[in-house]
Amino acid sequence: MAAAAATFVLCGGCRIGNSGNAIPSPFPFWSDLIIETRKRGFPDFVKLHAQHGPLFYWRFLGPRKLFVGSFEAVKQLLGPWGMVNISGKQHARVKRLAQAAFTPRAIRGYLPRMQTIAEQAVQKWAADGDILWFTFRIAVEIIVGFDDGWTSPRQFPTISAEFKTWLEGLFRRVRQQHLDRTRFFPLPIPGTAFARGMKMRAALMRRIHASLDLLEERNAAAAAGSPGEASGHNGDAGSPAAEQRTTLDFLKSSRDENGNTLTRQAEGTEQIADTVLTLLFAGHDTSSSSLTRIFHHLHNHPEAAERLRREQADVVAKHGSVITEAALHDMPYADGVVRETLRITPIVVGFSRVALQDFELCGYTVPAGTGMTCSLAQPLLTDARWQGEEQPLAFKPERWLAGAALKQGAWIPFGGGQRLCLGWLLAMTEMKVLLAAIFRGHAMELRQPDEPWVSFPLARPKCSMPARFVAVKDAE
Ligand code: HEM
Repeated sequence: MAAAAATFVLCGGCRIGNSGNAIPSPFPFWSDLIIETRKRGFPDFVKLHAQHGPLFYWRFLGPRKLFVGSFEAVKQLLGPWGMVNISGKQHARVKRLAQAAFTPRAIRGYLPRMQTIAEQAVQKWAADGDILWFTFRIAVEIIVGFDDGWTSPRQFPTISAEFKTWLEGLFRRVRQQHLDRTRFFPLPIPGTAFARGMKMRAALMRRIHASLDLLEERNAAAAAGSPGEASGHNGDAGSPAAEQRTTLDFLKSSRDENGNTLTRQAEGTEQIADTVLTLLFAGHDTSSSSLTRIFHHLHNHPEAAERLRREQADVVAKHGSVITEAALHDMPYADGVVRETLRITPIVVGFSRVALQDFELCGYTVPAGTGMTCSLAQPLLTDARWQGEEQPLAFKPERWLAGAALKQGAWIPFGGGQRLCLGWLLAMTEMKVLLAAIFRGHAMELRQPDEPWVSFPLARPKCSMPARFVAVKDAE
């Protein structure tokens, strides 16, 4: 997530606020995360917060940033303050309208398509592994509603590369803004990552608009009563059945309190297309990195993989092979595997905020205008509620069967408050559906289990951790 970008800024000096406490500023002005990164890999914020407390400043050749790592602080910071790039009333409205696409009912409607894609993915991985294909295909099919070539063998590599270049431009910009004291208006100077990113954004927006045109044509044909032309929807004309509805359908029909919908083009804004791009971006890299983490833990814990296999055998015996909501409910161990992975190895390690006004935090006064990098990893790993657990930092999915789920608020890998991840239920569901598809008759082999992980902009393995899924009878 853009908001998860860790900052690369340090500070000297310290500030005394109304509370009378000086916020520590433990590092010399020349020390910065780049130096840290060269020395020891990505800085360990959990360790830094343990050494220097919940708040500390850090600066290097730019505005200083406040690093925030405490559950209480995170809770406060997540609370008051769009979807990634918008804020205030605009954010609330778009999020409310988009929310309709992520309700339990909407996700129930997505389930059959998820299962089909998960089974296709497992078959595909038996030949060559690529988790990104699965999460991107889910995102495209659920969000845009029909593949329209997005994930075809011919187009997927191109679109995936467009996405990567766009993301590089985006994150380079986020990083640059932290370092850039002068706040130049971002100009797409040819040859820069930003210019390449903007070019790829235009290409992606053209694809999204082409898909929107196609969807509108198909829905119009359906409304005119030519079902043969409809987009595979089989509800009333122009109104797809629940199990066929897509995020786009929801985005197009959802209305605010004044009866207005999101617009396709209004006064230079492209609300629907921008929301689709945000969802495609927010929704697939995060889930694919999380799945990779899950596979890594399962590789190190074959007993957990075995237990997943047994759970799936029970689920199939009870519910048959179709993954329904009830079947998902009977997968508590798979649920624990996902939750435990996101707890001890969160993918989004933090988020950025700016203080709009002076406020009190952890006994300090934080002045208005302060840029903050808030750790999600730190509270997930060190919150006191986890400390009473047996081996709190160990991968133990079974702790979720024994009450860990009751530690309300101590599990925040999807953030919280107004900025709570819009797709958290979709993400949890797609990860469990994939685990179910794999552990119904396949074994997993990681080819490079020891490859290092990078933390920026999202936690992910450096060389994408190639894996192989083989039918169990072939593996024996
Ligand atoms: C394991 C997978 C995922 C993780 C760990 C994750 C994590 C997060 C986190 C921590 C935030 C809050 C960032 C902040 O506070 O600034 C967030 C926001 C968001 N996520 Fe996710 N996410 C995941 C999957 C998804 C999926 C599948 C979608 C949609 C298809 C999605 C859509 C969004 C959106 C739109 C926001 C912005 C919400 C807002 O600004 O109000 N995410 N996500």
